[in-house]
Amino acid sequence: MKKIIITGGAGFIGSHVVRRFVKQYKDIHIFNIDSLTYAGNLSNLSDIEKESNYTFIKGDIVDAEFINNLFEEHRFDGVIHLAAESHVDRSISDPISFVMTNVVGTVNLLNAFKNLWNDNFEGKRFYHVSTDEVYGSLGQDGLFTETTSYDPNSPYSASKASSDHFVRAYGETYGLPYVISNCSNNYGPNHFPEKLIPLFINNIINKKPLPVYGDGNYTRDWLYVEDHAVAIDLAFHRGKNHETYNIGGFNEWKNIDLVKLLCKQMDQKLQRKVSESEQLITYVKDRPGHDLRYAIDASKINKELGWMPSVTFEEGLAKTIDWYLSNTEWLENVTSGSYQNYYKNQYQ
Ligand code: NAD
Ligand code: DAU
Repeated sequence: MKKIIITGGAGFIGSHVVRRFVKQYKDIHIFNIDSLTYAGNLSNLSDIEKESNYTFIKGDIVDAEFINNLFEEHRFDGVIHLAAESHVDRSISDPISFVMTNVVGTVNLLNAFKNLWNDNFEGKRFYHVSTDEVYGSLGQDGLFTETTSYDPNSPYSASKASSDHFVRAYGETYGLPYVISNCSNNYGPNHFPEKLIPLFINNIINKKPLPVYGDGNYTRDWLYVEDHAVAIDLAFHRGKNHETYNIGGFNEWKNIDLVKLLCKQMDQKLQRKVSESEQLITYVKDRPGHDLRYAIDASKINKELGWMPSVTFEEGLAKTIDWYLSNTEWLENVTSGSYQNYYKNQYQ
Protein backbone atom coordinates (compact mmCIF):
# COMPACT_ATOMS: atom_id res chain seq x y z
CA MET A 1 0.00 0.00 0.00
CA LYS A 2 1.31 3.47 -0.91
CA LYS A 3 2.09 5.77 2.03
CA ILE A 4 1.78 9.55 2.09
CA ILE A 5 2.82 11.80 4.95
CA ILE A 6 0.81 15.02 5.31
CA THR A 7 2.39 17.55 7.68
CA GLY A 8 0.26 20.08 9.55
CA GLY A 9 -2.86 17.99 8.97
CA ALA A 10 -4.53 19.14 12.20
CA GLY A 11 -4.51 22.77 11.05
CA PHE A 12 -6.99 24.66 8.90
CA ILE A 13 -6.06 23.72 5.31
CA GLY A 14 -4.26 20.52 6.35
CA SER A 15 -7.41 19.04 7.90
CA HIS A 16 -9.35 19.55 4.66
CA VAL A 17 -6.50 17.98 2.64
CA VAL A 18 -6.24 14.99 5.02
CA ARG A 19 -10.01 14.41 4.89
CA ARG A 20 -10.06 14.56 1.09
CA PHE A 21 -7.16 12.09 0.71
CA VAL A 22 -8.40 9.64 3.37
CA LYS A 23 -11.88 9.52 1.81
CA GLN A 24 -10.80 9.63 -1.84
CA TYR A 25 -7.85 7.19 -1.82
CA LYS A 26 -8.62 4.03 0.16
CA ASP A 27 -5.52 2.39 -1.40
CA ILE A 28 -3.20 5.00 0.14
CA HIS A 29 -2.33 5.14 3.84
CA ILE A 30 -2.29 8.73 5.08
CA PHE A 31 0.01 9.66 7.98
CA ASN A 32 -0.82 13.02 9.54
CA ILE A 33 2.20 14.48 11.40
CA ASP A 34 1.45 17.52 13.51
CA SER A 35 2.97 18.99 16.68
CA LEU A 36 -0.43 20.43 17.70
CA THR A 37 0.57 24.05 18.26
CA TYR A 38 -2.17 26.54 19.21
CA ALA A 39 -3.33 26.26 15.55
CA GLY A 40 -3.56 22.46 15.45
CA ASN A 41 -6.73 20.78 16.61
CA LEU A 42 -7.51 17.06 16.32
CA SER A 43 -11.23 17.74 16.62
CA ASN A 44 -10.95 19.12 13.06
CA LEU A 45 -10.62 15.46 11.98
CA SER A 46 -12.93 13.65 14.42
CA ASP A 47 -15.12 12.40 11.54
CA ILE A 48 -12.27 10.44 9.88
CA GLU A 49 -10.00 9.52 12.82
CA LYS A 50 -11.13 5.88 12.85
CA GLU A 51 -10.64 5.24 9.11
CA SER A 52 -8.35 2.25 8.51
CA ASN A 53 -6.13 4.16 6.04
CA TYR A 54 -5.42 7.00 8.51
CA THR A 55 -2.81 7.41 11.27
CA PHE A 56 -2.06 10.48 13.37
CA ILE A 57 1.41 10.91 14.88
CA LYS A 58 2.20 13.83 17.15
CA GLY A 59 5.63 15.23 16.31
CA ASP A 60 7.67 18.31 15.50
CA ILE A 61 9.19 18.76 12.01
CA VAL A 62 11.99 20.83 13.60
CA ASP A 63 13.23 17.65 15.33
CA ALA A 64 15.50 16.15 12.64
CA GLU A 65 16.09 12.87 14.49
CA PHE A 66 12.36 12.27 14.92
CA ILE A 67 11.73 13.04 11.24
CA ASN A 68 14.59 10.84 9.98
CA ASN A 69 13.45 7.88 12.12
CA LEU A 70 9.86 8.35 10.97
CA PHE A 71 10.83 8.31 7.28
CA GLU A 72 13.05 5.23 7.78
CA GLU A 73 10.28 3.39 9.62
CA HIS A 74 7.43 4.14 7.20
CA ARG A 75 9.24 4.73 3.87
CA PHE A 76 6.80 7.37 2.61
CA ASP A 77 6.24 7.46 -1.17
CA GLY A 78 4.96 11.01 -1.03
CA VAL A 79 5.08 14.10 1.17
CA ILE A 80 2.45 16.84 1.25
CA HIS A 81 3.96 19.55 3.40
CA LEU A 82 1.63 22.09 5.03
CA ALA A 83 2.99 22.38 8.60
CA ALA A 84 3.92 25.99 9.23
CA GLU A 85 3.60 28.99 11.42
CA SER A 86 1.06 30.79 9.26
CA HIS A 87 -0.05 34.10 10.80
CA VAL A 88 1.64 37.31 9.59
CA ASP A 89 0.93 39.26 12.81
CA ARG A 90 2.57 36.55 14.94
CA SER A 91 5.61 36.59 12.62
CA ILE A 92 6.06 40.29 13.37
CA SER A 93 6.28 39.70 17.14
CA ASP A 94 8.11 36.32 17.00
CA PRO A 95 10.07 35.80 13.75
CA ILE A 96 12.35 33.01 15.06
CA SER A 97 9.63 30.40 15.43
CA PHE A 98 8.79 31.05 11.74
CA VAL A 99 12.42 30.42 10.76
CA MET A 100 12.48 27.21 12.81
CA THR A 101 9.27 25.60 11.56
CA ASN A 102 8.98 27.07 8.07
CA VAL A 103 12.65 26.95 7.05
CA VAL A 104 14.44 24.40 9.27
CA GLY A 105 11.38 22.13 9.41
CA THR A 106 11.10 22.12 5.60
CA VAL A 107 14.81 21.35 5.17
CA ASN A 108 14.52 18.48 7.68
CA LEU A 109 11.72 16.96 5.58
CA LEU A 110 13.68 17.44 2.35
CA ASN A 111 16.75 15.75 3.88
CA ALA A 112 14.76 12.83 5.22
CA PHE A 113 13.05 12.29 1.84
CA LYS A 114 16.32 12.64 -0.09
CA ASN A 115 18.22 10.27 2.22
CA LEU A 116 15.42 7.70 2.15
CA TRP A 117 15.18 7.38 -1.64
CA ASN A 118 18.73 8.46 -2.45
CA ASP A 119 18.92 8.47 -6.26
CA ASN A 120 15.90 6.30 -6.84
CA PHE A 121 13.02 8.78 -6.89
CA GLU A 122 10.88 6.88 -9.45
CA GLY A 123 7.18 7.33 -8.55
CA LYS A 124 7.99 9.58 -5.56
CA ARG A 125 6.90 13.18 -4.97
CA PHE A 126 7.53 16.02 -2.49
CA TYR A 127 4.64 18.52 -2.59
CA HIS A 128 5.29 21.86 -0.91
CA VAL A 129 2.29 24.05 -0.03
CA SER A 130 3.22 27.72 -0.21
CA THR A 131 1.65 31.13 -0.42
CA ASP A 132 1.21 34.02 -2.85
CA GLU A 133 2.79 36.30 -0.20
CA VAL A 134 6.26 35.25 -1.41
CA TYR A 135 5.71 37.52 -4.46
CA GLY A 136 5.36 40.63 -2.26
CA SER A 137 2.79 43.34 -2.89
CA LEU A 138 1.04 44.43 -6.11
CA GLY A 139 -0.06 47.99 -6.93
CA GLN A 140 -3.60 48.63 -8.18
CA ASP A 141 -3.01 46.52 -11.34
CA GLY A 142 -1.42 43.24 -12.38
CA LEU A 143 -1.49 39.63 -11.22
CA PHE A 144 1.10 37.27 -9.72
CA THR A 145 2.16 34.60 -12.26
CA GLU A 146 4.46 31.63 -11.66
CA THR A 147 7.38 33.69 -13.04
CA THR A 148 6.85 36.79 -10.86
CA SER A 149 10.06 37.51 -8.88
CA TYR A 150 10.05 36.76 -5.18
CA ASP A 151 9.85 39.92 -3.03
CA PRO A 152 8.63 38.97 0.47
CA ASN A 153 7.92 41.73 2.98
CA SER A 154 6.97 40.06 6.29
CA PRO A 155 8.97 37.58 8.39
CA TYR A 156 6.22 35.04 7.54
CA SER A 157 6.51 35.53 3.79
CA ALA A 158 10.33 35.65 3.98
CA SER A 159 10.32 32.28 5.77
CA LYS A 160 7.93 30.77 3.20
CA ALA A 161 10.01 32.21 0.31
CA SER A 162 13.11 30.66 1.87
CA SER A 163 11.40 27.27 2.17
CA ASP A 164 10.33 27.46 -1.52
CA HIS A 165 13.96 28.20 -2.49
CA PHE A 166 15.18 25.17 -0.51
CA VAL A 167 12.65 22.91 -2.23
CA ARG A 168 13.78 24.15 -5.66
CA ALA A 169 17.45 23.83 -4.66
CA TYR A 170 16.94 20.18 -3.64
CA GLY A 171 15.29 19.62 -7.02
CA GLU A 172 18.24 21.13 -8.92
CA THR A 173 21.03 19.73 -6.74
CA TYR A 174 19.77 16.26 -5.81
CA GLY A 175 17.11 15.66 -8.47
CA LEU A 176 14.40 15.54 -5.77
CA PRO A 177 11.01 15.39 -7.53
CA TYR A 178 8.94 18.31 -6.24
CA VAL A 179 5.84 20.36 -6.99
CA ILE A 180 5.20 23.72 -5.32
CA SER A 181 1.89 25.57 -5.23
CA ASN A 182 1.45 29.20 -4.18
CA CYS A 183 -2.09 29.95 -3.08
CA SER A 184 -4.06 33.06 -2.17
CA ASN A 185 -6.07 33.64 1.05
CA ASN A 186 -8.17 30.66 2.07
CA TYR A 187 -11.39 30.80 4.08
CA GLY A 188 -13.89 28.21 5.31
CA PRO A 189 -14.65 25.89 8.25
CA ASN A 190 -11.97 25.22 10.91
CA HIS A 191 -10.11 28.49 10.23
CA PHE A 192 -8.42 29.67 13.44
CA PRO A 193 -10.03 32.94 14.64
CA GLU A 194 -6.87 35.03 14.44
CA LYS A 195 -7.27 35.51 10.66
CA LEU A 196 -9.59 38.19 9.25
CA ILE A 197 -12.75 36.21 8.38
CA PRO A 198 -13.05 33.85 11.39
CA LEU A 199 -11.90 36.57 13.82
CA PHE A 200 -14.61 38.90 12.57
CA ILE A 201 -17.27 36.15 12.57
CA ASN A 202 -16.41 35.43 16.22
CA ASN A 203 -16.46 39.13 17.12
CA ILE A 204 -19.79 39.70 15.36
CA ILE A 205 -21.32 36.76 17.26
CA ASN A 206 -20.04 38.31 20.51
CA LYS A 207 -20.84 41.94 19.46
CA LYS A 208 -17.16 42.91 19.88
CA PRO A 209 -15.32 45.61 17.83
CA LEU A 210 -14.15 44.61 14.32
CA PRO A 211 -10.53 45.88 14.14
CA VAL A 212 -9.88 46.94 10.52
CA TYR A 213 -6.17 47.69 9.94
CA GLY A 214 -5.30 51.10 8.41
CA ASP A 215 -7.88 52.47 5.99
CA GLY A 216 -9.25 49.02 5.07
CA ASN A 217 -8.33 49.47 1.40
CA TYR A 218 -5.99 46.46 1.32
CA THR A 219 -6.96 43.81 -1.21
CA ARG A 220 -6.83 40.01 -1.01
CA ASP A 221 -7.96 37.20 -3.34
CA TRP A 222 -10.12 34.69 -1.43
CA LEU A 223 -10.52 30.96 -2.11
CA TYR A 224 -12.81 28.46 -0.37
CA VAL A 225 -10.58 25.97 1.45
CA GLU A 226 -12.11 22.82 -0.09
CA ASP A 227 -11.31 24.19 -3.54
CA HIS A 228 -7.68 24.53 -2.43
CA ALA A 229 -7.71 20.89 -1.26
CA VAL A 230 -8.99 19.81 -4.71
CA ALA A 231 -6.22 21.83 -6.41
CA ILE A 232 -3.57 20.20 -4.16
CA ASP A 233 -4.98 16.75 -4.98
CA LEU A 234 -4.83 17.48 -8.74
CA ALA A 235 -1.35 19.01 -8.68
CA PHE A 236 0.01 16.25 -6.40
CA HIS A 237 -1.23 13.51 -8.73
CA ARG A 238 -1.04 15.16 -12.16
CA GLY A 239 1.26 18.18 -11.84
CA LYS A 240 4.63 18.12 -13.59
CA ASN A 241 7.86 17.60 -11.67
CA HIS A 242 9.86 20.74 -10.80
CA GLU A 243 6.85 22.97 -11.57
CA THR A 244 5.07 25.67 -9.61
CA TYR A 245 1.31 26.21 -9.79
CA ASN A 246 -0.42 29.40 -8.67
CA ILE A 247 -3.84 28.79 -7.08
CA GLY A 248 -6.38 31.58 -6.52
CA GLY A 249 -10.06 32.32 -6.36
CA PHE A 250 -10.39 34.88 -9.21
CA ASN A 251 -12.03 36.76 -6.36
CA GLU A 252 -10.46 40.04 -5.19
CA TRP A 253 -11.96 42.00 -2.32
CA LYS A 254 -10.93 45.16 -0.50
CA ASN A 255 -10.94 44.31 3.21
CA ILE A 256 -13.56 46.91 4.06
CA ASP A 257 -15.96 45.70 1.33
CA LEU A 258 -15.50 42.10 2.48
CA VAL A 259 -16.16 43.08 6.10
CA LYS A 260 -19.36 44.90 5.09
CA LEU A 261 -20.58 41.84 3.13
CA LEU A 262 -19.78 39.64 6.14
CA CYS A 263 -21.70 41.99 8.46
CA LYS A 264 -24.70 41.94 6.10
CA GLN A 265 -24.80 38.13 5.84
CA MET A 266 -24.35 37.72 9.61
CA ASP A 267 -27.09 40.23 10.45
CA GLN A 268 -29.48 38.24 8.25
CA LYS A 269 -28.50 34.88 9.75
CA LEU A 270 -28.57 36.18 13.34
CA GLN A 271 -31.82 38.05 12.65
CA ARG A 272 -30.29 41.31 13.77
CA LYS A 273 -31.27 44.78 12.57
CA VAL A 274 -29.98 45.89 9.12
CA SER A 275 -26.43 47.37 9.50
CA GLU A 276 -26.23 46.44 13.20
CA SER A 277 -22.89 44.64 12.86
CA GLU A 278 -21.37 47.37 10.64
CA GLN A 279 -21.55 49.63 13.70
CA LEU A 280 -18.84 47.39 15.23
CA ILE A 281 -16.25 48.35 12.54
CA THR A 282 -13.31 50.11 14.22
CA TYR A 283 -10.29 51.38 12.30
CA VAL A 284 -7.11 50.51 14.20
CA LYS A 285 -3.34 50.96 13.83
CA ASP A 286 -2.03 49.43 10.60
CA ARG A 287 0.00 46.21 10.38
CA PRO A 288 3.71 47.13 9.88
CA GLY A 289 4.86 46.35 6.30
CA HIS A 290 1.24 45.66 5.29
CA ASP A 291 1.11 44.39 1.68
CA LEU A 292 -1.37 46.47 -0.33
CA ARG A 293 -2.69 43.88 -2.75
CA TYR A 294 -2.38 40.21 -3.66
CA ALA A 295 -3.96 38.84 -6.84
CA ILE A 296 -3.30 35.49 -8.48
CA ASP A 297 -3.26 34.49 -12.12
CA ALA A 298 -4.41 30.86 -11.80
CA SER A 299 -4.61 30.22 -15.55
CA LYS A 300 -1.76 27.66 -15.59
CA ILE A 301 -3.45 25.18 -13.22
CA ASN A 302 -6.73 25.86 -15.02
CA LYS A 303 -5.30 25.11 -18.50
CA GLU A 304 -2.98 22.25 -17.55
CA LEU A 305 -5.04 20.46 -14.90
CA GLY A 306 -8.57 21.77 -15.53
CA TRP A 307 -8.93 23.19 -12.01
CA MET A 308 -11.45 25.95 -11.23
CA PRO A 309 -12.98 27.18 -7.96
CA SER A 310 -16.37 25.50 -7.47
CA VAL A 311 -18.20 28.00 -5.26
CA THR A 312 -18.83 31.74 -5.54
CA PHE A 313 -17.63 33.94 -2.68
CA GLU A 314 -21.19 34.64 -1.50
CA GLU A 315 -21.91 30.87 -1.37
CA GLY A 316 -18.60 30.05 0.31
CA LEU A 317 -19.00 32.81 2.87
CA ALA A 318 -22.56 31.68 3.68
CA LYS A 319 -21.35 28.07 4.16
CA THR A 320 -18.51 29.33 6.36
CA ILE A 321 -20.80 31.44 8.57
CA ASP A 322 -23.24 28.51 8.89
CA TRP A 323 -20.37 26.26 10.00
CA TYR A 324 -19.27 28.68 12.74
CA LEU A 325 -22.83 29.23 13.92
CA SER A 326 -23.35 25.48 14.29
CA ASN A 327 -19.91 24.89 15.87
CA THR A 328 -19.90 27.39 18.71
CA GLU A 329 -18.31 24.79 21.00
CA TRP A 330 -15.30 24.55 18.62
CA LEU A 331 -15.05 28.36 18.66
CA GLU A 332 -15.29 28.52 22.44
CA ASN A 333 -12.61 25.83 22.87
CA VAL A 334 -10.07 27.50 20.60
CA THR A 335 -10.67 30.99 21.99
CA SER A 336 -10.20 30.05 25.63
CA GLY A 337 -6.76 29.86 27.26
CA SER A 338 -3.75 31.36 25.44
CA TYR A 339 -5.96 32.97 22.76
CA GLN A 340 -7.08 35.54 25.32
CA ASN A 341 -3.47 36.69 25.90
CA TYR A 342 -2.79 36.80 22.16
CA TYR A 343 -5.92 38.91 21.62
CA LYS A 344 -5.02 41.33 24.40
CA ASN A 345 -1.46 41.84 23.14
CA GLN A 346 -2.52 42.25 19.51
CA TYR A 347 -5.57 44.47 19.88
CA GLN A 348 -5.50 46.36 23.17
P1 NAD B 1 -2.53 26.66 10.32
O1 NAD B 1 -1.74 27.62 11.13
O2 NAD B 1 -4.01 26.62 10.46
O3 NAD B 1 -2.02 25.17 10.59
C1 NAD B 1 -0.66 24.85 10.69
C2 NAD B 1 -0.55 23.45 11.26
O4 NAD B 1 0.85 23.12 11.34
C3 NAD B 1 -1.11 23.32 12.69
O5 NAD B 1 -1.88 22.14 12.80
C4 NAD B 1 0.13 23.24 13.57
O6 NAD B 1 -0.06 22.49 14.75
C5 NAD B 1 1.12 22.56 12.62
N1 NAD B 1 2.53 22.88 12.97
C6 NAD B 1 3.04 24.10 13.22
N2 NAD B 1 4.35 23.99 13.53
C7 NAD B 1 4.66 22.66 13.45
C8 NAD B 1 5.85 21.92 13.65
N3 NAD B 1 6.99 22.53 13.99
N4 NAD B 1 5.81 20.57 13.49
C9 NAD B 1 4.65 19.95 13.15
N5 NAD B 1 3.48 20.61 12.97
C10 NAD B 1 3.49 21.95 13.11
O7 NAD B 1 -2.10 26.94 8.81
P2 NAD B 1 -2.96 26.93 7.48
O8 NAD B 1 -3.60 28.25 7.31
O9 NAD B 1 -3.76 25.70 7.43
O10 NAD B 1 -1.79 26.84 6.39
C11 NAD B 1 -1.26 25.58 6.01
C12 NAD B 1 -0.17 25.81 4.97
O11 NAD B 1 -0.72 26.48 3.84
C13 NAD B 1 0.97 26.67 5.46
O12 NAD B 1 2.17 26.16 4.93
C14 NAD B 1 0.68 28.05 4.89
O13 NAD B 1 1.86 28.78 4.68
C15 NAD B 1 0.02 27.67 3.57
N6 NAD B 1 -0.95 28.65 3.04
C16 NAD B 1 -1.96 29.12 3.83
C17 NAD B 1 -2.90 30.00 3.29
C18 NAD B 1 -4.05 30.55 4.10
O14 NAD B 1 -4.78 31.40 3.62
N7 NAD B 1 -4.29 30.07 5.32
C19 NAD B 1 -2.80 30.40 1.94
C20 NAD B 1 -1.73 29.89 1.18
C21 NAD B 1 -0.83 29.01 1.74
O1 DAU C 1 -2.23 35.21 0.87
C1 DAU C 1 -2.10 33.98 1.53
C2 DAU C 1 -1.91 34.23 3.01
O2 DAU C 1 -3.15 34.70 3.51
C3 DAU C 1 -1.44 33.00 3.77
O3 DAU C 1 -0.17 32.62 3.32
C4 DAU C 1 -1.39 33.29 5.28
O4 DAU C 1 -1.05 32.11 5.99
C5 DAU C 1 -2.74 33.77 5.72
O5 DAU C 1 -2.70 34.11 7.09
C6 DAU C 1 -3.20 34.97 4.89
O6 DAU C 1 -2.40 36.15 5.18
P1 DAU C 1 -3.06 37.60 5.34
O7 DAU C 1 -2.16 38.44 6.14
O8 DAU C 1 -3.52 38.13 4.03
O9 DAU C 1 -4.40 37.18 6.17
P2 DAU C 1 -5.13 37.84 7.43
O10 DAU C 1 -6.41 37.10 7.58
O11 DAU C 1 -4.22 37.93 8.60
O12 DAU C 1 -5.44 39.30 6.92
C7 DAU C 1 -6.22 39.54 5.76
C8 DAU C 1 -6.30 41.04 5.57
O13 DAU C 1 -7.09 41.59 6.64
C9 DAU C 1 -4.96 41.76 5.63
O14 DAU C 1 -4.95 42.84 4.73
C10 DAU C 1 -4.89 42.26 7.07
C11 DAU C 1 -6.34 42.56 7.39
N1 DAU C 1 -6.71 42.39 8.82
C12 DAU C 1 -6.39 41.24 9.44
C13 DAU C 1 -6.70 41.03 10.77
C14 DAU C 1 -6.33 39.76 11.48
C15 DAU C 1 -7.38 43.41 9.49
O15 DAU C 1 -7.70 44.47 8.90
N2 DAU C 1 -7.69 43.23 10.81
C16 DAU C 1 -7.37 42.09 11.49
O16 DAU C 1 -7.65 41.99 12.71
